[in-house]
Amino acid sequence: MIYTKIIGTGSYVPEKMMTNDDLKEFVDTSDEWIFSRTGIKERHIVTNEETIDLAEKAALLAMEDAGIDKSEIDIVLVATVTPDNFFPGVSQLLQARLGLNEVMAFDVNAACSGFLYVLNIADKMIKSGAYNTALIIGAETLTRLTDWRDRNTCVLFGDAAGAMIVTKSKENKIKDVICGSRGDTEDNLICKAVDIKDPAVNAASVQDHIHMNGSEVFKFATRIMPKTVTDLLERNNMELSDLDSIVAHQANARIISKAAKDLKFSMDKMFLNINHYGNTSAASVPLAIDQAIKSKFLKKGDKFITVAFGGGFTWGGALIEL
Ligand code: UT7
Repeated sequence: MIYTKIIGTGSYVPEKMMTNDDLKEFVDTSDEWIFSRTGIKERHIVTNEETIDLAEKAALLAMEDAGIDKSEIDIVLVATVTPDNFFPGVSQLLQARLGLNEVMAFDVNAACSGFLYVLNIADKMIKSGAYNTALIIGAETLTRLTDWRDRNTCVLFGDAAGAMIVTKSKENKIKDVICGSRGDTEDNLICKAVDIKDPAVNAASVQDHIHMNGSEVFKFATRIMPKTVTDLLERNNMELSDLDSIVAHQANARIISKAAKDLKFSMDKMFLNINHYGNTSAASVPLAIDQAIKSKFLKKGDKFITVAFGGGFTWGGALIEL
């Protein structure tokens, strides 16, 4: 039987930091409103870096942490909704930048749940016996899609990348990964890719921004996160008390505390770093896991669930032993 485990993690955030007070220059808001409604104090934003730059830095740290040679990597998966090009993908350009073997590499778009999607794909590909070691990444520069005049959204997002090396193992460490989707036909969370126009008219295309119905997304998130945790525990005949912690997508501290309350799980065991980074979409989960490990919030042998929701709508969760 082939199992899988995590052997290294790494993360990177751009240098430039923007505080809640800085945002007052763009929109009518306040530190008090943002912090009390979201738990966010500051976020990091790109100035001249692209998504691939963030991904590369996180990937190098994860490879170093894993202590593997780059020749061992045989799959590269990048979760992102902010690729630098429609094509080539971040993953393919990363193969070249990192000097990896000419292996399969592709990008996955599942918004903030993207990292759970790439973890699921890598886990199943390795368990099939066809592959050995995956470099998986969540990398986003969502602030490039932000409408800086829209206070409903611009205060929420930040840029980051997180990476993980997953490899085959004799011990069953990545115990289960589940993902789901339900098409958001009402445009509750949307950013259009290209505007549709008469092909005979050579008008300049206009880049869309993120549009969000915050309260609908909030309701969806607070329903789906506890359900995903409960589903994972049931599928694996485990109780909540068997878990050392939960590392949830960092979209809003109120969403995380509502999920903890509904599950009856101690808030002390929920990892939180949203105050420093805001919502970094697909980067949020691997950034949180890397920081949870490096800060010893997560220790070797700990059993935890990581869970995310996002645009699409999408969701995903994984039950992992470190
Ligand atoms: O990864 C998935 C991405 N998205 C999410 O996870 C978002 C989920 N939703 C949320 O986190 C929350 O719905 C928000 C934080 C976005 C909004 O919080 P809320 O408690 O649902 O506020 P609201 O949208 O009901 O707005 C309350 C008031 C409104 O004013 P009025 O109409 O009551 O006068 C807003 O105009 O707050 C106002 N408001 C703001 N005020 C100051 C909205 N944004 C701001 C702001 N600063 N930045």
